[in-house]
Amino acid sequence: MRIRVLGAAAGGGLPQWNCRCEVCRLARTEPNRVKPRTQSSIAVSVDGQRWALINCAPEILTQLHREPALHPCEGERHTPIEAVLLTNGDVDHVAGLLSLRERSPWRLYATPEIHGVLRNNPIFNVLAPDCVERLDVALDSHIELLPGLLVRIFAVPGKTALYLEGDEVEIGAEGEATIGVEFALHGQRIYYIPGCATLTPGLAARLEGADALLFDGTLWRDDEMIIAGVGQKTGQRMGHMSMSGTDGSIAALAGLNLGRRIFVHINNTNPVLIEDSPERREAEQAGWEIAFDGMEIEP
Ligand code: MLT
Ligand code: MN
Ligand code: ZN
Repeated sequence: MRIRVLGAAAGGGLPQWNCRCEVCRLARTEPNRVKPRTQSSIAVSVDGQRWALINCAPEILTQLHREPALHPCEGERHTPIEAVLLTNGDVDHVAGLLSLRERSPWRLYATPEIHGVLRNNPIFNVLAPDCVERLDVALDSHIELLPGLLVRIFAVPGKTALYLEGDEVEIGAEGEATIGVEFALHGQRIYYIPGCATLTPGLAARLEGADALLFDGTLWRDDEMIIAGVGQKTGQRMGHMSMSGTDGSIAALAGLNLGRRIFVHINNTNPVLIEDSPERREAEQAGWEIAFDGMEIEP
């Protein structure tokens, strides 16, 4: 199985258009120290010919343009992209769907709840139903996302999308709003979990022994955005567990046997994005890789 990280940044991208935090400034002035990154999406393939996207970022056109394997390669109109699967309804994961509207056939997979969110936003009706088939995926059921590629989705602790938040926000709810994805091929198991509020014992048990884990790397520390002076929200409030600390993802996942551990969906305030930062060194010493746009993963 081949995985291409199309975009490794969290919502906002790197640099974020209106942000002057240290990491965003370095991404503008010293791209060797901080690689710019687009918002969160991966492409997967079994044979390198037929591809599926997991999430579809606002920068999808840029992401496709720089990946020759995803260019049209037959006839006048064509795309190697056969399917898109959504892990939640966040803007960084769904806005790019609007750019895939030019009447090529592909399948859109999501939970019934996420499909409901899209149906309630009539702008997504631009995806003509005779081209884009919308297919429900039930939690814990298998779908064949591409020929030979079995995928199972499962609930992970999360939060409703920012634009759907009411007065009371439930953090860490497990349901159809935030899912993780398991890929199974040739006896290998690979997981993609770009958003996760906490590592439950059940989730840890599921991940044990995986060949690769691509995991929520939004923040280094929970109060990072407050300290950077760019916001009032903690990572927890946004539905993301942080990397560092005793209850962070590095510690929580340290005891698991995993082939590769890779952070994705990394927020622009996160110091691991600085190639020579102590936080980057600490994460790497703990066995983690920091995803970047164009990263190829063939576990
Ligand atoms: C998130 O992952 O928390 C969201 O993408 C935030 C956002 O909507 O910008
Ligand atoms: Mn996001
Ligand atoms: Zn920033």
